[in-house]
Amino acid sequence: MIRKYVVFVFCLLGLMPAYAQQSGDSAMYAFVNHLIGEMTLDEKIGQLNLLTSDMAITGPTMRKAYMDDIKAGRCGGIFNAFGPNYVRRLQQLAVDSSRLHIPLLFGFDVIHGHKTIFPIPLAMACSWDTAAIAHAARLAATEAAADGLNWVFSPMVDIARDPRWGRVAEGAGEDPYLGSLIARAFVKGYQGNSLDDSLSVMACVKHYALYGAVEAGREYNVVDMSRRRMFEDYLPPYRAAVEAGVGSVMSAFNEINGIPATANSWLLTDLLRRQWHFKGFVVTDYDAIPELINHGIAADTTAASKLAFQAGAEMDMQGLAYVHTLKTLVQEGQISEDAIDQAVRDVLIAKYKLGLFQDPFNRINEARAEREIMSPDKLTFVREMARKSIVLLKNDRQLLPLKKTGTIAVIGPLANDPRDMIGCWSGAGDWHKAVSILQGIREAVGNRAKVLYALGANIIDDTAMLRQLNAFGADIHPSPLSPQQLIREAVATARKADVVILCLGESAGMSGEAASRADIHIPEPQRDLLKAVYATGKPIVLVLSNGRPLVLTWEHAHIPAILETWFLGTEAGHAIADVLFGDYNPSGKITMSFPYAIGQIPVYYNHKNTGRPGNPEVKWTSRYLDIPNDPLYPFGYGLSYTHFSYSPLHLDKKVLMPGDVLHVQVQVTNDGQYDGTETVQLYIRDLVADVTQPVKQLKAFQQVFLKKGESKTVTFRLTADDLRIYDKQMHYRYEPGPFEVFVGGNSRDVQAASFELK
Ligand code: NOJ
Repeated sequence: MIRKYVVFVFCLLGLMPAYAQQSGDSAMYAFVNHLIGEMTLDEKIGQLNLLTSDMAITGPTMRKAYMDDIKAGRCGGIFNAFGPNYVRRLQQLAVDSSRLHIPLLFGFDVIHGHKTIFPIPLAMACSWDTAAIAHAARLAATEAAADGLNWVFSPMVDIARDPRWGRVAEGAGEDPYLGSLIARAFVKGYQGNSLDDSLSVMACVKHYALYGAVEAGREYNVVDMSRRRMFEDYLPPYRAAVEAGVGSVMSAFNEINGIPATANSWLLTDLLRRQWHFKGFVVTDYDAIPELINHGIAADTTAASKLAFQAGAEMDMQGLAYVHTLKTLVQEGQISEDAIDQAVRDVLIAKYKLGLFQDPFNRINEARAEREIMSPDKLTFVREMARKSIVLLKNDRQLLPLKKTGTIAVIGPLANDPRDMIGCWSGAGDWHKAVSILQGIREAVGNRAKVLYALGANIIDDTAMLRQLNAFGADIHPSPLSPQQLIREAVATARKADVVILCLGESAGMSGEAASRADIHIPEPQRDLLKAVYATGKPIVLVLSNGRPLVLTWEHAHIPAILETWFLGTEAGHAIADVLFGDYNPSGKITMSFPYAIGQIPVYYNHKNTGRPGNPEVKWTSRYLDIPNDPLYPFGYGLSYTHFSYSPLHLDKKVLMPGDVLHVQVQVTNDGQYDGTETVQLYIRDLVADVTQPVKQLKAFQQVFLKKGESKTVTFRLTADDLRIYDKQMHYRYEPGPFEVFVGGNSRDVQAASFELK
């Protein structure tokens, strides 16, 4: 059947002889150009139309007639369809029934795994382990491909400094340097060495651009930002993904300085194509073209299509704008057919590179799906990734790790809650297969300790929010008991125990898309529970499950041990128990600052100094009367069960010449009681430059594993290139002058030394 298909198409296009003689890119272009030559205008426009199936819904749907569209060649790709059977049926429709037999792309939001769910991306970022993240993406690709997919809408690389925005869960946090390395790791993992490897899928970097900077953290809100800030802080990860060879780019919902990203030709064409030399195709976000009418820059769908297309948006995701309007725009001469051909070429080349013209069914294989989906190797690695992602925020008097003895009370609405463990955007993940914290703890202690359980509180009691969460599939059922009864029961349980593990946080749907929160404390019923259990005087370990940094000021002041576990995915409970009982020594470091108070937001480590740097002792300085300037937990922060000490910093020179290398050395010693991993971070500050610079910027980091008592020397290499800045003319270059270099285990607790760039 497959061979028949290929031979048929090639003969049909008269390409067999030419194709046979050419190789590589020229064969690809010859094939694609010939195919375009055979296409009607309608068929071309069809390739620019991406439709959702009705299998999974990730936005407001508009119609179900997508099967007819496939047969008529009015559709270039389908998203939200997976499973070998279903995908085969749809692909078969395209290949057998459409006139030119052009295979479909199959896209899906594989954000942190497909069916085997990894920790949310913000959590994985806290591992600072880019090789592990690349491997996680590779496993996700393998599983997604085995389920018939060839395209994933990931990585999401939006830099975010505002934890009110629910989508911080999907990204890597606030830092452009780390964010760029992680963007690259995801792309490499998904795409592998070659897109036509049937274990690879095409990545789609999103949301281009600046979506993480929506005003006030409110979803889909506007972005107004200077070019300087874009280039310095927000654009690097998208660019890193492009440089890593990402196959597609998704335009963002938001406007940027008055021009929505989806109709922004500076963004989609000047920057992306001309400056960054992006060679793949641009797809819009869901329904983003018709939404240009709401933005107020288009009077109708035709005008919206014209603006988006001319800006460089090539494929219309579920907006049905291009299929309905592009033809007329071409016939009226408002858009050239050559421009349509170029967009179609970009889409067909992606299909070609994915090997779909050679074999449209190359990823569809039931036996492989059976073998790959939730295979033991994936589950093992998910557990490993989950353990790496956990951040120990506080551990007074070494309360953790716990012993597997005595009586342990496990209390809280997130304790016995497998559903929430897989977090937001958990693709096709099945929460029934996820391990709850309670289950993980019970398995870990076996019959060596007695484990008691109480619910203690509902995640939220706010009925309006509950209704919204349930409308989007949360399925939260508040307890029939009153809040007072729940707390009473929990307090009684706590009193019987030697130690209490309180599992609090957010429900999965409280972060992710369309999940901004203005109040980012632990929800009220849970705080009431926490305070009541605290009043018992029992030692408490607070285990947090949540999709964003929360304000934990009260918790930090009162609770001896706090473990940030985010949403860790399928193996959450096992990984958490591994850390609670010391079978794994935590090493995660947060990649977004945890605010001291909501009023500080945005709060981030790489801020500017101002003319009057904050000083609590001096009135006329940049500060608050009522709270400190610093976050509660700074970027890069995270504890270990062991302790690491740092020798004084050693620089091999005081003056760095361009072309030369500055070696920055520090000896790190594990002088605690456990073996452990430390992430040694290097920051710089450009003290005097033409343009003001941040007080710190991450430039490098290294992870070292040290046995207890062991020391290692960590050496960083800095060159003038690492010190480049955007000057007044926005040229990226280095300037001579004084610098400071800082090294430490987080962005706050560092040692400093100075040098000069000549
Ligand atoms: C909207 C989201 O913004 C985007 O991230 C996602 O990929 C698409 N919907 C498709 O589900």
